Amino acid sequence: MHNPLPLSIFDAATPQADRLNLLTNYFIVAALGVLGLVIGLLIYITLKFRAKPAHVEPQQTLGNLKLETAMIAVPFVLVAIFLYLGIGTMQAVLPPADSRQPDVVLTGHQFWWEARYPAPNGSATNTAGVTTANEIHLPAGKTLLLQLRAADVIHDWWVPAFGPKMDMIPGRTNHLWVTIKQPGTYEGVCSEFCGTQHAWMRIKVITHTPAGYQQWLRASQIDAQKPVGQSALAGAALFGRSTCGNCHAIGGTKANGHVGPNLTHLASRSTMLAGMLPTTKANLRQWITDPQALKPGALMPKYMFSPDSLTMLVDYLAGLK
Ligand code: CUA
Repeated sequence: MHNPLPLSIFDAATPQADRLNLLTNYFIVAALGVLGLVIGLLIYITLKFRAKPAHVEPQQTLGNLKLETAMIAVPFVLVAIFLYLGIGTMQAVLPPADSRQPDVVLTGHQFWWEARYPAPNGSATNTAGVTTANEIHLPAGKTLLLQLRAADVIHDWWVPAFGPKMDMIPGRTNHLWVTIKQPGTYEGVCSEFCGTQHAWMRIKVITHTPAGYQQWLRASQIDAQKPVGQSALAGAALFGRSTCGNCHAIGGTKANGHVGPNLTHLASRSTMLAGMLPTTKANLRQWITDPQALKPGALMPKYMFSPDSLTMLVDYLAGLK
């Protein structure tokens, strides 16, 4: 199985992550300072007041205004400084979304990610928005607004290279800002326990140049490729006759469900089941044959297809580029 871990917050790919890391570094420096001070004092006291041959009790002091004032003032000042730095960081990293249209709406499901790209406001062409799953495409060099939602339980969106993590909460809309500096592939994980397959909610963000992103968006707006070959054609007919379309959508067909991942361009995604396996015919077949064996707790039901029917279905699905 594909395993992108470990992921590190120190591979910052956005100014938002840089800003969080700066605050983390301040915290580490302050914490090391406090640690050094406490250990230094402990060593000093241990040596100075160690047992002496004469067994003379050290002089007892009751009350020391200067020392007590310092002991209250220093932590207070430290907390005040970090409150100030923390609020400043929050405002810089997570300004309000106001009424701006999100660049992508991400919805956490048990156990996969849905990505919906709204058609731009006032765009001349009345293009429908794009919907995909698990592999999220974004442009580099632009400040993007991600809107975060949940379909069932609380999930948590976290791509460490992008900085903050953010909960996805049923009935609430959260948001995140990201400005990805360089095109590339960034990985993340669901960071709130959401059920048996929580660990298999991997995130993959494919970041393009602005031109590459527009190209991807245009390609994604196109309906699913028509099945080629007798087996795939039969598979498409079988898909249409079965209940698959109640949960899954395939652009340009009658399948219009929104419970499971959109399958319009399924085969152009490199992995399936939220990053669990590469998208291959063998894996698709295994998945449809017995979803619970592969991903226990997933909501995909088991169907009894004959081996021939499975071959047709998989031939159809593997052609959805
Ligand atoms: Cu979704 Cu944990």
